[in-house]
Amino acid sequence: MTAIAVDIPLISLKGQQAEIGAEAKAAVARVLDSGVYILGPENKAFDSEFAQAVGAKYSLGVDSGTSALELALEAAGVGPGDEVIVPSFTFIATATAVSVLGAKPIFADIDPITMTLDAKSVEGACTPRTKAVVVVHLFGQPADMDPLMSLAKSRKLAVIEDCAQSHLATYKGRPTGSIGDLGAFSFYPTKNLGAAGDAGAVTTNDAGLRDAVNELRNCGRSAAAGYNHVRVGHNCRLDEVQAAILRVKLLRLEAWTAARRRVAAIYDEGLAGLPLKRPPLGSESSRPVFHLYTIRTDRRDALAADLRRSGIGNGVYYPTPVHLQPAYASLGVKAGALPVTEAASREVLSLPMFAELSAADAGRVVDAVRRFFK
Ligand SMILES: Cc1ncc(COP(=O)(O)O)c(C=O)c1O
Repeated sequence: MTAIAVDIPLISLKGQQAEIGAEAKAAVARVLDSGVYILGPENKAFDSEFAQAVGAKYSLGVDSGTSALELALEAAGVGPGDEVIVPSFTFIATATAVSVLGAKPIFADIDPITMTLDAKSVEGACTPRTKAVVVVHLFGQPADMDPLMSLAKSRKLAVIEDCAQSHLATYKGRPTGSIGDLGAFSFYPTKNLGAAGDAGAVTTNDAGLRDAVNELRNCGRSAAAGYNHVRVGHNCRLDEVQAAILRVKLLRLEAWTAARRRVAAIYDEGLAGLPLKRPPLGSESSRPVFHLYTIRTDRRDALAADLRRSGIGNGVYYPTPVHLQPAYASLGVKAGALPVTEAASREVLSLPMFAELSAADAGRVVDAVRRFFK
């Protein structure tokens, strides 16, 4: 069988690299020449620049989005015996971050439109052991935070925002990652802001939580003194090389986000009237950033195959909800337990999305989808 060439990929980093390559190489050379590779000036500058970009008081670079979630939960006091409410329609790290701390993830269902946590379902999942909730702004769509925050307040739960896919998205004017107690960001290379390897950050407005994450990421070492280890920590530091590359890309993040929104607007207009569901394009109170542009159709697999035959990349995020993954079989949550999540897993299809995708190529994607439904 001959492979079909992909004309329009789902995600491409080539355009981005062409734009920033020379600057990124100069930044890497600057770090190499400096001889300072761990927690140096690039980290310090990136921490303050990223905090400013996402409207949080503090940001701390770490070595991945998964570490960001783990450290955020640990700083919030999550540990053995606790329960943490998470969506099941997400990348599995949202849940494993809870498990590795010895706590138990409790899966709640999602809103069918934004595909983010539904506050009513979260409320139904609360028990006296519930300690925290992890809200995922999936695909760059902000979750409806007001009801989640008031529920958390009334039950004294910590709120961790999983912002792996939502850099610069805003909810009622506030950037994601600045609303809950802590935000966890991923800079995996294909994210809206991506490093040249693994990287992440934790954001918070609370100086106590900032200190906790700062210590946890650096072997429990106090920021104040030399070898004074005030807690049992980890080594989850962000490399200076990655921090330097992220600083170059952060300068473009607003422009890249605007470009993603333009692609989304072309899809939204072009796909109107077809028997499929489009993601919300945004409103005064919710400004998504389209990490992925994800439609829903009950003919998902046929459409995916048809697009592939036309050379158009596409992907299913996520085909199996976390509660039905083998890793969580021991929790005994059966198929049917989360109907909105399970329907989403059957119906979602992500179309090509990256800042450099041209209007002409976005138009070709629209034409191909329209042909399929004709
Ligand atoms: C929603 C979500 N949470 C967490 C992560 C974990 O981030 P990382 O791959 O940087 O560890 C990712 C990214 O893969 C993600 O998409």
